[in-house]
Amino acid sequence: MSEAFENLLRETREFPPPAEFAANANVTAEAYDAAAADRLAFWEQQARRLDWATEWDQVLDWSGAPFAKWFVGGRLNVAYNCLDRHVEAGLGDRVAIHWEGEPGDTRTLTYADLHRLTCQAANALTDLGVTAGDRVAIYLPMIPEAAVAMLACARIGATHSVVFGGFSADALASRIADASAKVVITADGGYRRGKPSALKPTVDEAVKRSPSVEHVLVVRRTGQDVSFAGTDHWWHETVETASPEHTAQPFDAEHPLFILYTSGTTAKPKGILHTSGGYLTQTAYTAHAVFDLKPATDVYWCTADIGWVTGHSYIVYGPLANGATQVMYEGTPDTPHKGRFWEIVDKYQVSILYTAPTLIRTMMKWGDDIPAGYDLSSLRLLGSVGEPINPEAWMWYREHVGHDALPVVDTWWQTETGSMMISPLPGVTAAKPGSAMTPLPGIVADVVDDQGQSVPNGGGGYLVLREPWPSMLRTIWGDDARFVDTYWSRFEGMYFAGDGAKKDADGHIWLLGRVDDVMLVSGHNISTTEVESALVSHPSVAEAAVVGATDPTTGQAIVAFTIPRGTVDTDGAAGEALISELRDHVARTLGPIAKPRQIMLVPELPKTRSGKIMRRLLRDVAEHRTLGDVTTLQDSSVMDLIASGMGGGKSDED
Ligand code: WT7
Repeated sequence: MSEAFENLLRETREFPPPAEFAANANVTAEAYDAAAADRLAFWEQQARRLDWATEWDQVLDWSGAPFAKWFVGGRLNVAYNCLDRHVEAGLGDRVAIHWEGEPGDTRTLTYADLHRLTCQAANALTDLGVTAGDRVAIYLPMIPEAAVAMLACARIGATHSVVFGGFSADALASRIADASAKVVITADGGYRRGKPSALKPTVDEAVKRSPSVEHVLVVRRTGQDVSFAGTDHWWHETVETASPEHTAQPFDAEHPLFILYTSGTTAKPKGILHTSGGYLTQTAYTAHAVFDLKPATDVYWCTADIGWVTGHSYIVYGPLANGATQVMYEGTPDTPHKGRFWEIVDKYQVSILYTAPTLIRTMMKWGDDIPAGYDLSSLRLLGSVGEPINPEAWMWYREHVGHDALPVVDTWWQTETGSMMISPLPGVTAAKPGSAMTPLPGIVADVVDDQGQSVPNGGGGYLVLREPWPSMLRTIWGDDARFVDTYWSRFEGMYFAGDGAKKDADGHIWLLGRVDDVMLVSGHNISTTEVESALVSHPSVAEAAVVGATDPTTGQAIVAFTIPRGTVDTDGAAGEALISELRDHVARTLGPIAKPRQIMLVPELPKTRSGKIMRRLLRDVAEHRTLGDVTTLQDSSVMDLIASGMGGGKSDED
């Protein structure tokens, strides 16, 4: 019998919070005790961070499991909680968004500005016939209007469906159709990699095939020529001329707030449905607890796109519900130069930074001297999300961005969970590099084996959530059966996240990647994450992706695609020597079972637009197949680069 997941990587480093940070932290260890003593009372207390028009009469109704109802009978307006109440409290002049366009143009929006624009947009949408329960598709670049559009929908009870601005007309049309969206909000274009990049033609093509769409609202961002049809309206002629007076009506706690499509592993995207009261409660609480947000003094920056759940929960709803000041950046990290992120941190004196491992590893590849060229002393907390963060990337982040002193919070969650679920608390937890550590207060997570039995410390298996949580998805839009089947059928009475995980000797949780990516080598289930982390722990490696390729002897064999750090010589014999050294390094770090059969040195890795490695395509390369669907690739030329670099990268096999 093989283990559900081998536990190979050992990590002993540990970084307790700086004393001063701990002394001033928003949340202390007491929160764990309170939540453990009475979980529902704990969440009820967190719900009181919000302003409710009517209090709930039941915290959780789980009688229809797995269909949950939180704060039953409660009524609130989500936009009111993000805007009006701050303005009413006299904070109208506080900056909500320091916006930085890619070309360097800037806008500053206070809470009063954001409130006024949102009221105008709410009135304009109402004039276009949008009423509570209608769906509105949002397809915008990273401009403040993206947040305004979402908040305006929330304000009038319309359900938004944000579609990432990099998606194709097909992807947009299928999402519009699935939700029967009545209105699309878009722009002429946005700036990306130094040039205007058009959006409107993609919308035109999608709308042609979308009978549900009655109107299209178009923000002018780039000034590009756009073709206009009778159903199109300029934002500046409708929203910006609309009345700024709008009274927000409360909606039921379970009123739908948004649909966000996630592709997961299967072809047809799932429309993940989130509702109002529970979602806002948990996003607001986790922003307070995990980011230690001090709204009066912090400048927070989340580098995600608003088209992903990270942008929904930790650009729009969580930070704004807390009255935070944040930076929003339109463009790419290397335009016009590779120091752009650090320049922004320096310029706005960012104190809390939330970004993704893929970006951290890219920065490692670009070199330590780049962040060293900027003043990063304003930073006091660093966060990571989206993928397992390799210990070396975590250490690099702490050392080179966090002046070797700052807490780093590795936050595990999903589109489906709506908010953070497993993460250190920055003022409490002695964090281990690469570990998401423990479930947050009020969250009950576990690692179980094939039979659904909790694994002991030191064991590996499947990550599950044992109790419902306020910001959980309520269903898959239009497909309750798929919701039950995907998340609630694998293990009786538990939510199955689809991720592998292990508990270390202290019971701390380490994420091991998607279970679909696990490699079965000579009867051992080896996690892609652990082998990748072992490779990245070598000083010559910036980034690595491993896959299991069919092998006549071992069933599957480990094939690694590795990006060397900027300064490393990989020509000819030097490349061969490095490959053989890396194979030995992995065997030394994890044991001989994890030694890659083959390592290829490559200049880039195939990633989705949200930065996740597309191992499916690498498996195609490793098994010498023609490539499958590449349409979700961030940069389609990457696969040519990998294919052309392969010849010299092969190594002997043991
Ligand atoms: C999947 C969810 C959460 C917002 C962005 C991604 C992986 C996410 C971590 C982390 C290890 C992580 C998981 C998860 N993931 N955060 N801190 N450590 N893995 O949302 O696109 O729905 O992806 O991302 O595999 O299941 P998403």
